[in-house]
Amino acid sequence: MSIIPPQQHEHLLQLRPLPTEAELLDGIERLRRERNAVILAHNYQRPEVQQIADFVGDSLGLARQAARTSADVIVFAGVHFMAESAAILNPGKTVLLPDLRAGCSLADTLTAQGVRDWKAANPGGLVVVYVNTTADVKAEADYCVTSGNAVQIVRSLPEGVPVLFAPDKYLAAHVARETGRPMDIWDGACHVHAAIRPEDVAAQQAAHPGAELLVHPECGCSTRVLRDVPDLQLYSTEGMVTRAQQSDAETFIVVTELGMVHRLEREVPGKAFVPVARTACCEYMKMITLENIHDSLRDLSGRVSVPEDVRVRALRPIERMIAIG
Ligand code: 13P
Ligand code: SF4
Repeated sequence: MSIIPPQQHEHLLQLRPLPTEAELLDGIERLRRERNAVILAHNYQRPEVQQIADFVGDSLGLARQAARTSADVIVFAGVHFMAESAAILNPGKTVLLPDLRAGCSLADTLTAQGVRDWKAANPGGLVVVYVNTTADVKAEADYCVTSGNAVQIVRSLPEGVPVLFAPDKYLAAHVARETGRPMDIWDGACHVHAAIRPEDVAAQQAAHPGAELLVHPECGCSTRVLRDVPDLQLYSTEGMVTRAQQSDAETFIVVTELGMVHRLEREVPGKAFVPVARTACCEYMKMITLENIHDSLRDLSGRVSVPEDVRVRALRPIERMIAIG
């Protein structure tokens, strides 16, 4: 028995072939010019998305690019909080996230009400939030940080004031270690980085003796790894590129999300980059594809905006961050 009325069968069979990659690339190129659009991509994006982007970088670099762009449309190949930051910095522009489901497990660990309750329990405290937070949360914060400037920003805070750091507990531990500053720490983590185990690092070290470690501060394994290598530096994703360019090492174990390996291979040819674990993959980042970038540019779909009262309050900690680091 068919549940589709016969008169609709013909309509269902009018299938259009999927566009080829070349057609998608041509379409994106044309639409990008017509719309005066810029495509900003995070280092964890799919290789083919990184290749068509006008700028590829870490959260800090992307925020800086979003702050200075003259484009009318910003297509964010990243996750929702990154597109929100671009919308906060550019109230007059159209900001598109090609798949609105591209969220962040870390950002999901903290709500604006959570910050308000925390502040009420710690009067006079300065709230420092990682850029991986929603606009509502940033609106409650005093400072915003990324993994690339968190240490520098916490160092710049006035002495003797309690610091409330959220939401990533591993980044917070790194900042507390580097600055010596006692902090109240929110119990949040990213599911991808938290799942990277010290055993994964040890297995790659055994397979690649002499390889240098590039470890992101969001990693759950960083505390154990630092016990074995106390002078180990931790790097934001962009910091990893600079380190790999400057280091004498020929092989690197990349202890972060898988997409970073592609960025490193492009920027530092001739050196070898080994992912710490093939399972360290952010499914939110991978939701952005050439197809949905094309469709979003064509239809101006996936718009991300922030209510004006929230935007104005969330802008303050972001601007402070951009000014300091
Ligand atoms: P970076 O700021 O180092 O690019 O990190 C962003 C992120 O989401 C890490 O998971
Ligand atoms: Fe969020 Fe983790 Fe994905 Fe980064 S890797 S966007 S922190 S879920």
